[in-house]
Order: sequence, then structure tokens, then C-alpha cells
Amino acid sequence: MSVRNRVAVLHGVNLDALDRRPAEHYGGLTFMELELRIEHFAKTLDLDVRFFQSNHEGEFVEELHKVGDYADGVLLNPGAWTHYAWAIRDALEISSLPAVEVHLSAVEEREQFRRVSVLEGVTVGKVSGRGVDGYRDALEVLRGHLK
Ligand code: DQA
Repeated sequence: MSVRNRVAVLHGVNLDALDRRPAEHYGGLTFMELELRIEHFAKTLDLDVRFFQSNHEGEFVEELHKVGDYADGVLLNPGAWTHYAWAIRDALEISSLPAVEVHLSAVEEREQFRRVSVLEGVTVGKVSGRGVDGYRDALEVLRGHLK
């Protein structure tokens, strides 16, 4: 059986400014530190990750259009787009890849608008409120759907 271990890690809007956002929600780490931690988690799970980040919704959509060319699954934190960007939901559906949604903060326990996720129904899992460790949990869930 061929190995299916390639994961696209897609970060959305404002994730690149992580260390300038409220530390009580996002942990105060830099975006680079976040990616290094994810890379480490991926190694321990024998997954091969490729990163992408954009603050432009159209670019994010276009990345989803081509993600099937280089990945077997998608781990995504679209940031605020999660709560209203229906075009991202449609683009994820077009990718036809298993996808897990991840959030550093406990979105279900914050403002009302953060409780809505447009990705519901097109993902195989969701992890939130576990900080950076949530990315490891999410990768594990995703790995279970790659085989
Ligand atoms: C976030 C939660 C979103 O509500 C917020 O807009 C973000 C980050 C998280 O990782 O907790 O930008 O996705």
C-alpha cells in the first residue's frame, strides 16, 4: 500500500501575527514557534507537513484548489474566516481531502460569533482550546483518516 502521510497545514488570517494577539487566548508564541512545534509533532507521528499562510481569502481558496496536488489531508486554522467565509468551506469541499479544523483558543467558550464554524460538515474533526498541543491532537485525528 502506498504511504499517504502528506499533510497541508493551512493558517488563515492574522495567524502570522500570533505573538501580537491576546496571550490568554493564543499563548504568546510567535508564528515561527508555532510552525516549529507543528513540524516536531508531525515528525513524531511520521507525517510530512507543508505550510501555507495567507491574510487574503482568495489566496487561501486558491491554495485549497490545488492542495490535492501535494497533500493527502488538510489541517486548517482559518482564523476569523472560520466563522463566516463560506467560500472557504466550498473550496475545502472541492479538495475532497480529509480535513481537521484546529483552533488555539476555546472558540466555543468565547464570543457568540466564534461558536459558528462554516467548516462543519466538510471536516472529519475539530480540536479547540488546547493551545499548541491541539495541533498534535488534530494531526493524530487526521492521520487516522489518511490510511
Ligand atoms: C482562532 C479563533 C478565531 O476565532 C480567531 O478569529 C483566530 C484564531 C484560534 O486559533 O483560536 O484568528 O482560529
